[in-house]
Parts: sequence; C-alpha cells; structure tokens
Amino acid sequence: MNIAVLAGGFSPERDVSLTSGSLIANALVDEGYDVCLADVYLGIEIGNDVKELFNREKKPVHKVTHTVPDLDALKLSSGNGEALIGKGIIELCRAADVVFLALHGAMGENGQLQATLDNFGIKYTGSGYVGSLLAMDKDISKKMFVGAGVRTPDWMHFSAGDASVCDIEAKIGYPCVVKPCSCGSSVGISIVHDRGELETALAEAKKYEDNILVEKMISGRELTVGILDGEVLPAIEIIPTEGFYDYQNKYQAGKTLEICPAEIDDDILESLKEQTKLAFAALRLSGYARFDYIVDAQNRTWCLEANTLPGMTPTSLLPQMAQAVGMSYGQLCAKIVSLAGKK
Ligand SMILES: Nc1ncnc2c1ncn2[C@@H]1O[C@H](COP(=O)(O)OP(=O)(O)O)[C@@H](O)[C@H]1O
Ligand SMILES: [Mg+2]
Repeated sequence: MNIAVLAGGFSPERDVSLTSGSLIANALVDEGYDVCLADVYLGIEIGNDVKELFNREKKPVHKVTHTVPDLDALKLSSGNGEALIGKGIIELCRAADVVFLALHGAMGENGQLQATLDNFGIKYTGSGYVGSLLAMDKDISKKMFVGAGVRTPDWMHFSAGDASVCDIEAKIGYPCVVKPCSCGSSVGISIVHDRGELETALAEAKKYEDNILVEKMISGRELTVGILDGEVLPAIEIIPTEGFYDYQNKYQAGKTLEICPAEIDDDILESLKEQTKLAFAALRLSGYARFDYIVDAQNRTWCLEANTLPGMTPTSLLPQMAQAVGMSYGQLCAKIVSLAGKK
C-alpha cells in the first residue's frame, strides 16, 4: 500500500510538521507500507514513474528549532509566489492509496487541502474539509461548542482594527488571553493582566492574523484529551515548569511535565469524556482529534479548542495517550491510515 505523507507547508508550524511527518513516515515504513514523504509547499520532483517515489527507506528526521520559521524568507527562496501546493504534490497524492496529513496550521488544518484532495477523489487521514474548517477557527468552534453544550470560556471576537481595549475590559476583564483566531502551537497567544499587556498582546496577535479572539483566562489544571475511532483516550495533564503552555514549552524538551494518564477524579474524567464526544460531533470531525481543556477549582471542565491534526511525534500527546492503552506509535499511525476515507 502506497502512503504519501504530507508535511511542512506554508505555516508558522511547518517545522513541527516536518518532524511529525518524518517520524510518521518511518513508523509507517516499519509497519510495512511503501511511503513517500513530501513538503506540501516546496513540492517534489517527479521522475518518469511517480510510483517509484514510494519505498521502504527510512527518511531523515527533521529537528524543531526554538524559533518560529521565517515564512517571508521561505516564500522568497522557494519562488512559489501565492501557491500553497508545490509542484508534483497532486500527482504524488493521486498515485497514493492514502495521503497521511502530517501538517499543522494553515491550509493543512483549515480544510483547504482536504477540499482539494476531495475534488481529485484522493483518500486522506483525519477530518474532512468542513470539520477541519470549523475546528481551525477558534471563534466558530466556540460557537459550535456552546450550541452543543460544551463548556468554553467567555470570549469576544473581532478584526484587529476594531479591537476596543475599553470594550474588552468591560466584557472580559483581566486576566484574559489574546489569540489569533486560527493559529496553533500557541503562536501569537499571550496571557495579559493589565491594559499595557493587552495592547502589546493585540499587536502581537495581529502579526499573524486579522481575526482576534480575547478569552477569559481560566485558572486551573490543564488537560488534553484525545479521541480515536469514537473512543476517548486517557487524558494527559500538562504542567509547564514556567509560564503557560507556549511555543517553547510545547517543543523544547524538559520544559513541561506531561502526566499520562492524568491523575484526576472520576467525575472530571467522566465530564471530559462526555464533553469530548459532544465537541467531536459538534465540529463534524472524523478519525481522530485532540481537545484542550482547563479544569477549574470547582472541577468544571472548560474546552479551549480542537486540534484536528494534533502533534504526531512519538512523544507528542496523542501518541502518549495511545501508548497508555497499549497502542504503539506505529500501530497508531497504521490505525489512522485505516480510518482514512471513513467520514
Ligand atoms: N482561556 C484560557 N485560560 C487559561 N489558559 C489558556 C486559555 N486559553 C489558552 N490558554 C493557554 O494557552 C495555550 C494555547 O491555547 P490554545 O487555545 O490551546 O491554542 P493553540 O491552538 O495555540 O494550542 C493553552 O494550552 C493554555 O496553556
Ligand atoms: Mg492548544
């Protein structure tokens, strides 16, 4: 079976994705698949026979640096202009039995790529284009959560130009969290405690996107919950050694304690299970996903967001959850492949 693993892409999270992609590709090789790994943005050279690109060779593993990649520089050096799908990618995907989406952020996670693949009748892993789009936009997701009875922190949404500090102070208050609406990996996110910090945070979020969300900060324990083929996986508690779960704490080794399975009361666990199933259905997701929560002092669970293409290195959260129920990294990758096309 030929699997095309798509990674990279024109996204601030491209480094993380290239790491996940190379590791997924290697795990799938070990599981007996013929695999081709490609950077969806940079494209791939197709020789005489596209099928020759699929093989059982191990791919070099990409390392995540501690800074967000410079996309302007990448655009200039690639010469791709506005094209998000590089040369040869569609041809490669058409030759694959399944496309494994190892992308994070932007067009990999917002449904654009899924819609393109649908139009070519190509099977891919994870959610379809509608679910991906609903989950990518934190404002839309939160509206769907509210409609489905999934508890989510109060928030305001606006275009960066229309942000009124006074309005935010009156409706949300401090401390609050400023986020670009559709980024991930905590890119552009700040927790703020006063007007000065709020103004700086709004300017920071605006660098990434014009759509901004300001949310009430919930103090409590941070938990993340995975779902795979309809089953909720064990929760993980996330405890950064310093600050909140930002880009550096997410991707630099030793910066965050991850307790799997989380040591939590049964009533919290039950609530997380129920809320995760509701949230998954509300956003019309398929295959697998991961949801981020804060649990407050009253044991109430607050859903922050859905991740339709969660981190997939062997030490990432979802693979750890799978491990906790006896599923190896390779088995998890193979399971995700087997769910492709079941929408
Ligand atoms: N409302 C909130 N209250 C407390 N912490 C938050 C809140 N929103 C976000 N955070 C912190 O910021 C991190 C990233 O926010 P999240 O909404 O999950 O976006 P991302 O898509 O970047 O992961 C969370 O893991 C959490 O540590
Ligand atoms: Mg998150």
